[in-house]
Amino acid sequence: MLFRAALTALGAATSVAALPSLVVQGSQFVNPTTGDAFQIVGVAYQIGGSAGYDPNHGKDPLSNGDICRRDAALMQMLGINTIRVYNLDPNLNHDECASIFNAAGMYMLIDVNSPLVGESLVSYQPWTSYYEAYVNRTFAIVENFKNYPNLLAFFSGNEVIDSVKTAADVPPYIRAVTRDLKNYIKNHAPRAIPVGYSAADVRDVLEDTWNYFQCAINGNANDMSRADIFALNSYSWCGNSNFHQSSYDQLVALFQTTSVPVFYSEFGCNTPSPRVFTEIGTIYGPNMTGVFSGGVVYEYAQEPNNYGLVTVNSDNSVDLLADYRTLQNQYAKLDFKSVQGVKASGKTVKPPTCSESLIKEDGFNNNFTLPVPPPGVQKLIDNGISPKLNGKIIDVSDWKVTQSVQDVNGSKLSNLAVKPLADGEYNTASPTQSGSSSNSSQTSHNASPQLAPLGALSGALFAIPAIVATSFAIGFTMV
Ligand SMILES: *[C@@H]1O[C@H](CO)[C@@H](O)[C@H](O)[C@H]1NC(C)=O
Ligand SMILES: *[C@@H]1O[C@H](CO)[C@@H](O)[C@H](O)[C@H]1NC(C)=O
Ligand SMILES: *[C@@H]1O[C@H](CO)[C@@H](O)[C@H](O)[C@H]1NC(C)=O
Ligand SMILES: *[C@@H]1O[C@H](CO)[C@@H](O)[C@H](O)[C@H]1NC(C)=O
Ligand SMILES: *[C@@H]1O[C@H](CO)[C@@H](O)[C@H](O)[C@H]1NC(C)=O
Repeated sequence: MLFRAALTALGAATSVAALPSLVVQGSQFVNPTTGDAFQIVGVAYQIGGSAGYDPNHGKDPLSNGDICRRDAALMQMLGINTIRVYNLDPNLNHDECASIFNAAGMYMLIDVNSPLVGESLVSYQPWTSYYEAYVNRTFAIVENFKNYPNLLAFFSGNEVIDSVKTAADVPPYIRAVTRDLKNYIKNHAPRAIPVGYSAADVRDVLEDTWNYFQCAINGNANDMSRADIFALNSYSWCGNSNFHQSSYDQLVALFQTTSVPVFYSEFGCNTPSPRVFTEIGTIYGPNMTGVFSGGVVYEYAQEPNNYGLVTVNSDNSVDLLADYRTLQNQYAKLDFKSVQGVKASGKTVKPPTCSESLIKEDGFNNNFTLPVPPPGVQKLIDNGISPKLNGKIIDVSDWKVTQSVQDVNGSKLSNLAVKPLADGEYNTASPTQSGSSSNSSQTSHNASPQLAPLGALSGALFAIPAIVATSFAIGFTMV
């Protein structure tokens, strides 16, 4: 079992084995080596929250190999195959972390923005934030990450649209940034790295947001401003809910016809707490996998907002929280070999043509004449930015975790190490023999508490936690 294997120190084996770079085909991520569709089993990775990004002190979530080694080992045990990282410094070296996650069988979803002024589009008067130095920053992230085979996609924006009000002006600017990124990637990256948007699950504007970004201007599906993927931060499944009560069924119905992959870029409502993570069986079950490509649990490390799976202490030791074991048990109930073993449909889906009538909500921007690149940006797209720091996969020789990790019951985990996987293999949760976690020695101390289901959900806003927790936009919206 992976659990035991992950606990085995593997000595000084080196590895440059690589994950296959996934491609977007119609509404699916596809592994070009096997021809199988890919389901994201992800976790948001930002220790310390936005304070974990501190360019003045050379610090971001992927710049310390010892920390990444510890967390990759714990994510392997959990069953994760993708991390989402929000705030990165394009001038730091990320080679060791990217190589560790690659060897551990994990992809990276990377946001090109940060909450710092000049490093993201603002929700209010977005034109004030669309200028050369900002776009250059997004290109610098592309340069830094473009060579990693396990880079899954870039997010061109996160929850910049969070209401009908912000939807009045923002959409053409996000679409313009997407266009600039895709043009830059086309000229300067070794492959067609997908670019898309991570939306707040605000139901008033969700459908329009998806359509605004997936539609083809003049019916041209190769239009560079078209998003390659669409993701949403959704917190509508709370406690011991179900497919219907969580309104996941409405999301599946909504995205049934999607022309691009759709997935949760955040999920994991934490009221009630502790969490039971019963949505896992539905997200990776037959009701959803034909439409959704999985999701990213919010989030790895504990912050004051209480979404963490582990606590990272000031001495870099880690305490597993009950939610970690509960989530692990939910993953372990599924047979991920079959979940990941479904042949891709191979179908491309014709996107809707952009038009005023595609946009339903009164007040949502329905103008598809995009802002032109700001002065100086076309030159960057043509010639590349300078200076730049290009990452690369490196040899990693040490897989042992040196920090102390304490289990939920207080005992120390011993011999914790990353287990480098074979070439082309992604990390997978290990199934329990019985198909249920209650009778497995690895999990028996951590039966999930049964919590009463929430009352019927009402209202259109399912994204409050995400906005509070991670929005780049909200702080700027207020000023
Ligand atoms: C572009 O980004 C690089 C790397 O961060 C930086 O050194 C350079 O000054 C930036 N150029 C512009 C025009 O902002
Ligand atoms: C799938 O949908 C059906 C019909 O809504 C529902 O009865 C069933 O519980 C769902 N299955 C899962 C795993 O959510
Ligand atoms: C659409 O946006 C463009 C660019 O901002 C602008 O020139 C044009 O007037 C807008 N069209 C409408 C109908 O508002
Ligand atoms: C904690 O759980 C582990 C794994 O189930 C078990 O081996 C260990 O004995 C437990 N420790 C304590 C202190 O209960
Ligand atoms: C676990 O399940 C197996 C098969 O159902 C059973 O033989 C075994 O006794 C169970 N172990 C425990 C500790 O309950």
